Amino acid sequence: MNTIELDSHTAALEEFRAPARPELPSSQPAERLASDLPPPPAWIEIDLRQLKRNFQLINDDKPAHLQILCVVKDEAYGHGALRVAQTALAGGARFLALATLEEAVTLRDRGINARMLLLGDRHEKELPHCLAHDLTCCLSDAQSTERLGRLAARAGQRVPVHLKLNTGMNRYGVRWDQALPLIELICQTKSLALEGILTHFAQSDEADKTFALLQLSRFNQVLSALAARGISVKLRHLCNSGGFLGWEFCRWGFIHPQCAGVFRASHR
Ligand SMILES: Cc1ncc(COP(=O)(O)O)c(C=O)c1O
Repeated sequence: MNTIELDSHTAALEEFRAPARPELPSSQPAERLASDLPPPPAWIEIDLRQLKRNFQLINDDKPAHLQILCVVKDEAYGHGALRVAQTALAGGARFLALATLEEAVTLRDRGINARMLLLGDRHEKELPHCLAHDLTCCLSDAQSTERLGRLAARAGQRVPVHLKLNTGMNRYGVRWDQALPLIELICQTKSLALEGILTHFAQSDEADKTFALLQLSRFNQVLSALAARGISVKLRHLCNSGGFLGWEFCRWGFIHPQCAGVFRASHR
């Protein structure tokens, strides 16, 4: 953790929290209601030893230069973020990725010290918390880049950032064909270090790979433009679950298995 001072996590993050659930009538406290009701109709059982084994298998299988970034957003897709994160890290994952500030801070508060990447865009009020909790941001616009740069400079830091490219998923990121000015801005900002560049395949797990190949060629265009300018970016990553299972030729810096559940059926 670094030196930026904040109020308590709870107070400072209040405005990012989801709205509270409606309260139960006071005559029916939640515990009593729960004990009166039948068990929920659906649940999921996770064998953490198998999950760890899955990560170990991926880890042993992959070339040494690749790192595993485990996507544990949305409570690790309902698997339970804390335990999946602990298991993934014990199985060799190096980075975790999350969607919201709050879920990342919750993991920090529970003792997870690993590198964490926040996948979406950040509201300006979130940026000081990202610095304070050592959370790596994806950048996709000039305004956030300037704000984060100023905050990092004020804190006397040089913070790593990842540039998010929109190559066709159309959810987050700067368009691949409009990315160069932003890349230059990041590179000129002394308090920021362009550690990574990523994109997200929209359809890599489908049989028809036409669109995924188009996204790959757009990503490659940006990498070539960077190389032509002598800019080297250590972590180039786009292999989400579908990508890393079938696309060995584009495994560069990171691979992004969600929570390695994809291997559950095939390995003991
Ligand atoms: C950049 C990135 N990679 C990987 C994932 C994992 O998802 P999936 O493997 O389902 O595409 C996400 C999920 O949001 C993501 O944003």
